[in-house]
Amino acid sequence: LTIDKYKNPLPNLLQPGLFIDARRKGKYTITMSQGTHDFGLGEGIPLAQTWGYHSPSAPTWDAAGLNYLGPTIVAQKGKPITINWQSKLPKKHLLPVDTTIHWAYTGTNYSISKDGVPVVAHLHGGKSKSKYDGLPDAWFTSTGQGGKLAINKGATQAYKYYNDQQAATIWYHDHALGITRLNVYAGLAGFYILRDNHDTGRPDNPKTSRIENALPGNYVNFDYQGDSRKDPDVYYEYPIVIQDKIFTADGQLFYPASNADLAAAGLEAMLPPSAPNPSVIPEFGSGNVILVNGKAWPLLDVEPRKYRFRLLNGSDSRFYSLQLEKGLDFYQIGTDLGLLNKPVKLSQLELAPGQRADVIVDFKGYQGETLILNNFAGGITSEPIPNNPDTTGQIMAFKVGNQVTVADTPLPTTLRGGKGQPDALPTYTGLVTDQKIIQKFNDGIDWLDQTFVASSKNPKKPDFTKIVKDPLTGLPIAKQLALFENPSDDFGRITPMLGTIRDGALMWHDPITEYVQLGDTEIWEIYNTTRDSHPIHLHEAGFQLLSRQDFTATQIDPLAPLTNIQYQGAATPAAPQEAGILDTVVIEPGEVIRVAATFELPGEYVWHCHILSHEDNEMMRPYEILAPGA
Ligand code: C2O
Ligand code: CU
Repeated sequence: LTIDKYKNPLPNLLQPGLFIDARRKGKYTITMSQGTHDFGLGEGIPLAQTWGYHSPSAPTWDAAGLNYLGPTIVAQKGKPITINWQSKLPKKHLLPVDTTIHWAYTGTNYSISKDGVPVVAHLHGGKSKSKYDGLPDAWFTSTGQGGKLAINKGATQAYKYYNDQQAATIWYHDHALGITRLNVYAGLAGFYILRDNHDTGRPDNPKTSRIENALPGNYVNFDYQGDSRKDPDVYYEYPIVIQDKIFTADGQLFYPASNADLAAAGLEAMLPPSAPNPSVIPEFGSGNVILVNGKAWPLLDVEPRKYRFRLLNGSDSRFYSLQLEKGLDFYQIGTDLGLLNKPVKLSQLELAPGQRADVIVDFKGYQGETLILNNFAGGITSEPIPNNPDTTGQIMAFKVGNQVTVADTPLPTTLRGGKGQPDALPTYTGLVTDQKIIQKFNDGIDWLDQTFVASSKNPKKPDFTKIVKDPLTGLPIAKQLALFENPSDDFGRITPMLGTIRDGALMWHDPITEYVQLGDTEIWEIYNTTRDSHPIHLHEAGFQLLSRQDFTATQIDPLAPLTNIQYQGAATPAAPQEAGILDTVVIEPGEVIRVAATFELPGEYVWHCHILSHEDNEMMRPYEILAPGA
């Protein structure tokens, strides 16, 4: 396949008809089904068989020929909605399914050909009740089979989303146990844009605009709260999801599942001879076609003014390091879960799988030019597969016109903490040396009834002089978790795992080790003992990154507990562009990170690596938030 770049127009996922306007309370139905999709690979290439989400509330989605990804859900803070997730998928997967990993039917007499493909939609970044979170064991099928956490026996699961959190670029994607990577690769992902009164400068709802926060938005002629403009529609805000793919010569999705498949794709063998066929591969970071919003290397026509791009890395394993041509900068205004305190100017922007970056780009002064968005990360960061500048080194292009339809507004100097702006982000500081100081420090955060990691035998009465603390803030650490790599599973394959520094590596099915009291703020340490970078994602709670530090430790084997932990060099604070609310954070090899999170809904949740091939293959663990009295 030779694909002409910058021929496909970028699909606008916030165009009326392509998004579900869920800003009022209501019920919406979203159906998963198989169909054909035009990835824009070139003339004469057959359409691809794909999976996508569809909804009667996004009436032009199907007419636009989209059967990959799903309509954008636009919701409003404080307006709860219900989504009926329905599967009409066939009883055969588009891609080869490895039934030896911890996936949906392990331990039951379930099979895809009889019962259908397990699916479940997770709202990534959403503060959802456990039963509506789309947990891996909440999978269900088109025939009404379901995992142990499915809320009913049926092909439709009704999930409530409370939208009780600040505006953010969140997203929904499949999360069924052990098969997530294939379901997402086939197409099951979409945007969920949560708005609030601070999020948007004008744009599609003038009644809630805030001059103080004038951010580029869309001006469209649809009647919402009495707004019916007569001018042509103009769009200054685009969600952008970046993914990498391999296609067969006849334009079909290809996901390698054996050494022979890898060889056919020109890739190195990654599996031992003892691996089953098909088998999960250690990572899929080797797609040689870049898709943006479901089109190969698209082009967006822009005006010479500011735009807001909500970037999402929706890839299986590939990390991106994005750079615009000709010295054009990004102004990052938000992280995974909302606005930063102020814009951060960046010439290069890193995005790991699962992460989002909310950015402003100003095309003023570039009239008549075509600017390419380049990528300088090679595959997954820890294995520097050199980038091919002709393929994965390029993402999309912007063609700058001459006319400005709606006058530009200046980039706000602050985004939070100012008049009419949301509160500044919480800061975590304080020195905890004894109980008295902890009490004094108690500035609305309940540090006292927590189990700290301390030398005391009785966790309820820690020896406060010996508490393990974050070196930068002095705050007490509550959990000490770790990432591991098993050099050989039952089939001789490398398996990434999670666990704790005291227990060593644990399997997905091992009993829960991490409990949190409802309402508590805790600091978690996560040690990466592997040779790879992993983007670690926490469900239910957004968090702030307090510090990063290099360490060494002693282990009797790669899955063993960590002893003799030594810190190397000083701890460093979060970089300005990651000093917001996150739900996914990269931990480099040999690094420990400390994050602070407040846990606000009771029940079981998960934390996991967002490299989809890793979360499908043991790099995921449950944790539980305990309601009072539990
Ligand atoms: Cu984006 Cu648990 O997932
Ligand atoms: Cu990982």
